[in-house]
Amino acid sequence: MNYFGHYFRISLFGESHGAQMGVIVDGCPPGLPLLPDDFMHDLQRRQSGNRGATARTETDVPCLASGLYNGHTTGAPIAILFENHDTCAADYAAFRDIPRPGHADFTATKKWKGFNDLRGGGHLSGRLTVLLVAAGVIAKKILAPVVIQAQLEEAGGQQTIAEAIDRAIAADDSIGGIIRCTAQQMPVGWGEPFFHSVESQISRLIFAIPGVNGIEFGDGFAASQRLGSARNDRFVATDGTTATNNAGGVNGGITNGNDLVFRVAVKPPASIAQPQQTLNITTGQMTDLVIAGRHDVCFALRLPVVVEAVTAIALADLKRAILPA
Ligand SMILES: Cc1cc2nc3c(=O)[nH]c(=O)nc-3n(C[C@H](O)[C@H](O)[C@H](O)COP(=O)(O)O)c2cc1C
Repeated sequence: MNYFGHYFRISLFGESHGAQMGVIVDGCPPGLPLLPDDFMHDLQRRQSGNRGATARTETDVPCLASGLYNGHTTGAPIAILFENHDTCAADYAAFRDIPRPGHADFTATKKWKGFNDLRGGGHLSGRLTVLLVAAGVIAKKILAPVVIQAQLEEAGGQQTIAEAIDRAIAADDSIGGIIRCTAQQMPVGWGEPFFHSVESQISRLIFAIPGVNGIEFGDGFAASQRLGSARNDRFVATDGTTATNNAGGVNGGITNGNDLVFRVAVKPPASIAQPQQTLNITTGQMTDLVIAGRHDVCFALRLPVVVEAVTAIALADLKRAILPA
């Protein structure tokens, strides 16, 4: 089962080092202006190139294969394809016998009985987040005037991100980070109390981003330590505006008209440059693992735009449930 959404639905296919990957976007209304150029800004935000990101470079030029005519969406499913060029399969062959600790080589190999493509993480790779970003561009258009913005707040527990990256590189190690996301100009009333709450819709997609470890809305875990008197968001206007926003813009799984605010915890990449002691699962012997290939020291650097994209996709599905046209 490889799809998300009911009224605005996406499904993904492809592998990190396969020839092509793609996303099919269904449920997009007709008549939305959409050109290949519209994708470039967000796609470039996800690309590597900065210090701490992988040396792998891809052009990420989207091929809009269907669902568009004369620069507008037709209402039919939109297929967007990307090619992989900068691949190097040999780096990954050893991970079948010696799965990387902290990565998904072991679980994927067991689940798919060894037929899985391990190259670059195969179908589980962060590379596929390019597809989420592309679908997110369409979702953002559907959501206008809602504005979604995410940024990296800290990396490796530090707000001085460049310094944290330098330290991790010098130590042949890797670091994670925390991304803060807001959606402004949110209407009241999106989301359902139980199974399609705003939090569960967004969380489901946030956890589709490889390497995400946690999410909290508003004051999240800290709420458990506060008094209700201090935590309650006092109403100050009849449209539902509150003086504070500890709820993060959601009550009862339904948007309350204040900004939607949440934070996402991203783990450090499992593929680190320093040698590790681990198990060869074929021989049963402990062995040294030295991970070759090109890896991010901190892929959280590249994720704000992915967080924005999946938030837009989740919200577009909720919006289309209420306003199908
Ligand atoms: C954009 C992006 C780039 C990533 N780059 C790497 C990487 O270079 N090395 C690595 O070990 N993991 C990387 N990851 C994380 C792995 O894809 C992820 O840890 C793995 O698929 C297992 O999933 P899990 O961490 O959610 O359990 C990246 C993730 C994303 C979203």
